[in-house]
Amino acid sequence: MSRFDEVYSKSLNDPQAFWAEAAEDVSWFQRWDKVLDDSDAPFYRWFTGAVCNTCYNALDYHVEHGRADQTALIYDSPVTDTVKSFTYRELLDLTARFAGVLAARGVAKGDRVVIYMPMISEAVIAMLACARLGAVHSVVFGGFAAHELAVRIDDATPKVVVSASCGIEVTRIIPYKPLLDKAIELAGHKPDSCVIVQRPQEEATMVGGRDVDWNEAMGSAEPHECVPVAATDPLYILYTSGTTGQPKGVVRDNGGHIVALKWSMKNIYNSRPGEVYWAASDIGWVVGHSYIVYGPLFNGNTTILYEGKPVGTPDPGAFWRVISQHKVGTLFTAPTAFRAIKKEDPEGTHLEKYDLSSFKALFLAGERCDPDTLTWAEQILGVPVIDHWWQTETGWAICANCLGIEHLPVKKGSPTRPVPGMDVRVLGEDGSELKAGELGALVIKLPLPPGTFPTLWRAKERFFEAYLSRYPGCYQTFDAGVIDEDGYVHVMSRTDDIINTAGHRLSTGAMEEVLANHPDVAECAVMGVSDSLKGQVPVGFCVLKAGVEKDHGEIVKEVIQMVRDEIGPVASFKTAMVVDRLPKTRSGKILRAVMRKIADGKEYTVPPTIDDPAILDEIETALKGVGYPPS
Ligand code: COA
Ligand code: AMP
Repeated sequence: MSRFDEVYSKSLNDPQAFWAEAAEDVSWFQRWDKVLDDSDAPFYRWFTGAVCNTCYNALDYHVEHGRADQTALIYDSPVTDTVKSFTYRELLDLTARFAGVLAARGVAKGDRVVIYMPMISEAVIAMLACARLGAVHSVVFGGFAAHELAVRIDDATPKVVVSASCGIEVTRIIPYKPLLDKAIELAGHKPDSCVIVQRPQEEATMVGGRDVDWNEAMGSAEPHECVPVAATDPLYILYTSGTTGQPKGVVRDNGGHIVALKWSMKNIYNSRPGEVYWAASDIGWVVGHSYIVYGPLFNGNTTILYEGKPVGTPDPGAFWRVISQHKVGTLFTAPTAFRAIKKEDPEGTHLEKYDLSSFKALFLAGERCDPDTLTWAEQILGVPVIDHWWQTETGWAICANCLGIEHLPVKKGSPTRPVPGMDVRVLGEDGSELKAGELGALVIKLPLPPGTFPTLWRAKERFFEAYLSRYPGCYQTFDAGVIDEDGYVHVMSRTDDIINTAGHRLSTGAMEEVLANHPDVAECAVMGVSDSLKGQVPVGFCVLKAGVEKDHGEIVKEVIQMVRDEIGPVASFKTAMVVDRLPKTRSGKILRAVMRKIADGKEYTVPPTIDDPAILDEIETALKGVGYPPS
């Protein structure tokens, strides 16, 4: 039996012993009564009875155990020409003080705090300060518009919102504060106060009696101690796209999360305490939560917060500059970032300027890594390039090549094998398990391991209905795929209407809801089509109401703007068209899969159930008019 097989079998044969052993690496105020609590199955909880604090494990523990003067966080911001380092002691001092600021504004254990911020160090401090108080943070990605922020404010009902005056996208200043003001105006729930970081690039107008300046508040703040919380108490809510405009509030607990992430740093990423670990993502996404903030700090690493892009800040050598300047050991990003670099510097000439001797491994996730990009990265970097599959819901990898256990042979296009704790199966329509090589629904047998989501925020029913009801005893991932003869998993596509655009998870259903609100639109469809840089981008089709005389170009411009205003620029919704009709089955189901194949220039068969095959020619012509399939 290989080392990996041994560890994997142990994790499934005796999960309680496996995770209890991993939990010895965590600092608890009180140990658990039960490792796995199955008394309310299929709702499972890990480490019931235990008491801990996430911020203690991320900061105080290291300050008390010899890492006080080690760098904890490097803020590297090419867009403001700034590099700033914080030791564990400095980060702890700032976090304790900001916890004091929040406490002074009434935030206590269990209260929610929404964080809507660009990639600045205050965002990390705000997250850790919430954890310190036992308050529940909900970070909202900066590329979302006011409406999306309002939906999240209404669901999370925060006491305080922490934000900043602006973000910087390469050279453009994006004022955040007006978006926050608008969101609060739209939301039914009103936070008591907002703490605002005033950035020199664009100062925000403050609302008297509600808004407080970060620096002023910090000036007079009393540091706050760590508040003990139950291992099963929520640490954060992270909203992610569902099939409708109402996002799902993924909940993460405290205890299981520390155990799983600390274990993953060593066993999946093979990153040792003291090494520099860089996740080039955004704190608004799960990758940012798990591997910019929590995982590396639990493990005593130095983590990097990078406010820049892979290209354009200033050139496609940006990642190599950061790796060499900060002696990065492990980089984690999305394949789209590498496609962007490859597009601008296919020969990798920018690499020649930098010393990458510290660099050990590249991990990619967020979307399937196409073999071309993986091969290119391997060739230019000369280190292992690992595709790994995970979701906001799971919080850490479902499948990976666990470099800390055993480096398994790489199969390009596959995120390798299920990681310890994840019992992945492929099921058919009727719920029966399929044979090796057969395509079906990818599920994970319950219980999910620690660190995964125990529920959706205040929506236990929705959690059950969405994820646990379709295949009893299993978590439905909404990804389809196969497991091959060697046990390698191949993730093929989503089974719902979620698309991945530049590593960002988006709901086409939510975009359709926006289009349907246009006064001239009778019916619409949005689908993801292939894109050589972003993986997929959304494309919209609108059928107009009878009698609408308005110029089609105008309507297209308006719906594009509506998606930008309602969902945000991150939707990358730039292509839409007016069509006379949509292709449907006789029972009225829109034939999206066929439309997608036409847009991607792939072979398709006309479905026998189609209402009128001639519509497909009309769709083909309309798509050609907007450049699909690309030549
Ligand atoms: N705040 C405000 N606006 C933002 C934003 C933020 N935090 N993040 C992105 N946007 C805007 C962008 O400026 C862009 O606006 P535009 O339409 O006016 O140009 C739009 O949202 C789309 O952004 P994106 O899809 O990221 O495209 P891009 O052209 O700016 O960059 C890449 C393309 C590939 C370089 C970039 O997406 C990237 O680095 N991706 C890495 C992926 C990643 O971090 N994934 C997270 C999971 S690991
Ligand atoms: P998110 O919740 O934003 O992390 O998106 C999760 C979804 O992204 C998954 O359900 C997959 O569809 C896709 N995904 C993430 N990583 C991978 C990967 N390595 N291979 C294939 N698909 C992936």
